[in-house]
This record gives sequence, structure tokens and C-alpha cells, in this order.
Amino acid sequence: MGNCLRARPKVDNSLRSQATPGAAKVPNRKAHSSVPSNLTITNREKSTSESLLTPRTEGDILSSPHLKAFTFNELRSATRNFRPDSLIGEGGFGYVYKGWIDEQTLGPARPGAGMVIAVKKLKTEGQQGHKEWLSEVNYLGQLHHPNLVKLFGYCVDAQNRLLVYEHMPKGSLENHLFRRGAQPLSWEVRIKVSTDAARGLTFLHESEQQVIYRDFKASNILLDSEFNAKLSDFGLAKAGPTGDRSYVTTQVMGTEGYAAPEYIATGRLTTKCDVYSFGVVLLELLSGRRAVDETKVGDEQNLVDWARPYLGDKRKLFRIMDTKLEGQYSQRGAYSVASLAFRCIGEAKLRPAMADVLSSLEKLPVLRNASSPSKPERRTVSNSPYQIYPLRSNYPSSAKKTPRGSPLASHMKSQPPIKSPQGR
Ligand SMILES: Nc1ncnc2c1ncn2[C@@H]1O[C@H](COP(=O)(O)OP(=O)(O)OP(=O)(O)O)[C@@H](O)[C@H]1O
Ligand SMILES: [Mg+2]
Repeated sequence: MGNCLRARPKVDNSLRSQATPGAAKVPNRKAHSSVPSNLTITNREKSTSESLLTPRTEGDILSSPHLKAFTFNELRSATRNFRPDSLIGEGGFGYVYKGWIDEQTLGPARPGAGMVIAVKKLKTEGQQGHKEWLSEVNYLGQLHHPNLVKLFGYCVDAQNRLLVYEHMPKGSLENHLFRRGAQPLSWEVRIKVSTDAARGLTFLHESEQQVIYRDFKASNILLDSEFNAKLSDFGLAKAGPTGDRSYVTTQVMGTEGYAAPEYIATGRLTTKCDVYSFGVVLLELLSGRRAVDETKVGDEQNLVDWARPYLGDKRKLFRIMDTKLEGQYSQRGAYSVASLAFRCIGEAKLRPAMADVLSSLEKLPVLRNASSPSKPERRTVSNSPYQIYPLRSNYPSSAKKTPRGSPLASHMKSQPPIKSPQGR
């Protein structure tokens, strides 16, 4: 199994090289896709419980009763012709625009008049982009959970591929943690976000037909107005192993710094790969540093390598804690999270299951008021080992990223399909 981890743009070079411009598939035509069959979803969490026979053909996927097939014109008017000032984000595959639709009819609405949506318009052509777009439609058309972003529908129109999501007003965790000038996230919000994200991953892993997410990272954790976190981007999601097998073998894809080392080495994908990525995000939340930081030198570039020696030592832990927290966190809480992160990034066999990770996080007594981080409230809990500090104020609204130049072309030439988290 070759190592095809990708540079930040979602490009699989081996597949792209075969892609023919104009070869986009027409809906309802039979197509090969890597989607699982007989996906049965039962949910232990508060969400819909469904037993689904996952369709095999593209046409079946696109005719999901949960999704609306939007026309390109509808999305053009919903986003005011994809105006630059409607742009709210950009990833390797697409631009994300804010738009408005009518809540009842889901037809386009005047700005401010209907329900806010986020429209992702893929900028790539070719098979890999289409495959991930279809995978997203397939999974989010069937999986429903409070910690997964809601997909309202999609649009396929000649070369255009679009996805229509619920709008997440606070944008991505990545923007809050790393964007210059962003108001720092309080400790409580960090714990809340990690708990919500753990709930989303646990749902995927504990479903009767397991789903491995494969792209867990700060930019794929989106936040609503109350800092509830939801997972987005199911383009790389994969059905878990069936029968006696404990892993699925795949081409290695994901994002540098987040992908588990044993997966990179062998192509064997298990739920423990998601647990590793979760551990990396915990480290980002603790330290305020990116999974890979090319502005640093040597061992400091890779967050896991840099942080690991400090995680098991209460007296040294403060050295890696995010200075933007200004010491306003529970020391015992931080140590618990660091120990959990340490287990998540450890040897695959010894990593905890996501359900265990979730229950450890839920035991942290820091969740009060995490949904209103702007309250300038000072609270202390007497006789508690967990000191609770004042909450921070004035969170900025979600970031608007400036569109990058044309990162795909350059990455396609030189990079394998793992994304560098700093390729922006
Ligand atoms: N549903 C949404 N609501 C609000 N903002 C969103 C939504 N979806 C995406 N965004 C914004 O758009 C940005 C780009 O998202 P996108 O998923 O295209 O790329 P990414 O996750 O940053 O990178 P990658 O290409 O590796 O997936 C996000 O970081 C977020 O700020
Ligand atoms: Mg994303």
C-alpha cells in the first residue's frame, strides 16, 4: 500500500491523473462508488434511529428522501450569484458561500429573509472531487445526529458540484484557535467542543455498521452560535470492517499531522485512526498550536512530537499550555485532558475507544456556561479541585477567508494526497 497522504488540497494524484475534464457523471447513471452497502445505522445517542439499505448507485444516493436536489440557478440566487462578499471560507476542494433559502420550500430567499445556509462549491474537476462529493452526499444523506452538520441537499449541474449545509455561524474550530486576532477560546468552551466532537465520532464508531471518519481535524469541526460543535466533511469517510476483520485497507488519505502513523505506514484503517486524530485535536486545544507548524524548527514542527514528553508530567504540563488561556484553566482538568490525549496518540492497540474518550471528557466538571463564553462572570467552586476561572468575552463572528491563489495546481504537481494543514 503506497503512502498517498495528501497535501492540504483534497487531491489524490493517482486518481486525478486519470481524470478527464468533462467526465463528470450524470445523476441516475450507474456509477462506481466506494460507498458501503447494507449500512444499518442505529444510534445510541439522541438522534434518528434508522435502518438503511445504502444504495450502491450514484442515482440512488442522489435520490435520498432526506435531501433536496437544488438547481444551479437556485443556489446562484440564494448566494447572490456567489458574490465575493458572500464567501465565508475556502478549503482545498471548494469555496463556501453564505446563502438564504425559504424554510418551508427550500427555494432561494432574499438575504436576511429565510434560513441561512452554507453552500460549498467544489473547485476541482475530475474523479476524486466527484467521489468525495458523492461520499459526502451518501453519508450525510443518511446519518443524522446533533453533532454532525446537517446537509440539506446538493446540486449537480454539468461540471458544477455543490453541497448545501446548515450554516454554522461561528465557523470552524481552526479559525478560533489559530486565526490571527481571534478572541481566544475559554477553557470551558474548549472542553465543550471536544466533548461534542467526541460525541459525533462515537456515534459514527458505534453505529451498527461502523463508519470511520478519516478526516478529523480542527477545520472540520464547525461551531454554531452557542459553540455546539458538529463534524463536517465526510468526503473521506469509509465503512468500517465487517465480519472478522479488524481493519479496512485503503489508499492512505487524510491530513498531515492528523493521520495515524500506523495507517500511513500500512494503509490499514481502523476506528483507532480517528482516535489518534482526536488526540491531535486535543493537543491543539491544550496548546493552541497547529498539528503541523512550519514556522517552527525541528521537533517543534510536529505537535505530537513536541508535546508528548510533557503530557505525563503535571509539573511540566504548563510548558505546552496555550498562553492565550492566560492560566485560566483547571490544572487538574488540563492534566486529565493531557493524559487522555497521551493515550489517544499512543500505540494503536492501547488507544481508548471513542466511547471511553467521550465518557472521560464528560466527567470533566467544566461544562457550565460553556455555551455563553462572552459572559464576563467570575466563578469559583469552593472545595473543588477544579478551579473555574472567569469566562472570556466577545467572540468574533466566523472568519471570512480570503480566497487563495490557485493552490490546487501547484499541490497537484508536487504533493501526494495528504493535506498539509498549513497549505493555506
Ligand atoms: N456549514 C458551514 N457553516 C459555516 N461555515 C462553514 C461551513 N462549512 C464550511 N465553512 C467554512 O468554510 C471553511 C472551509 O471549509 P472546507 O470544508 O471547504 O475546507 P477545510 O475543512 O478548511 O479544508 P479541507 O479542504 O481540508 O476540508 C471552514 O473552515 C469554515 O470556516
Ligand atoms: Mg472541511
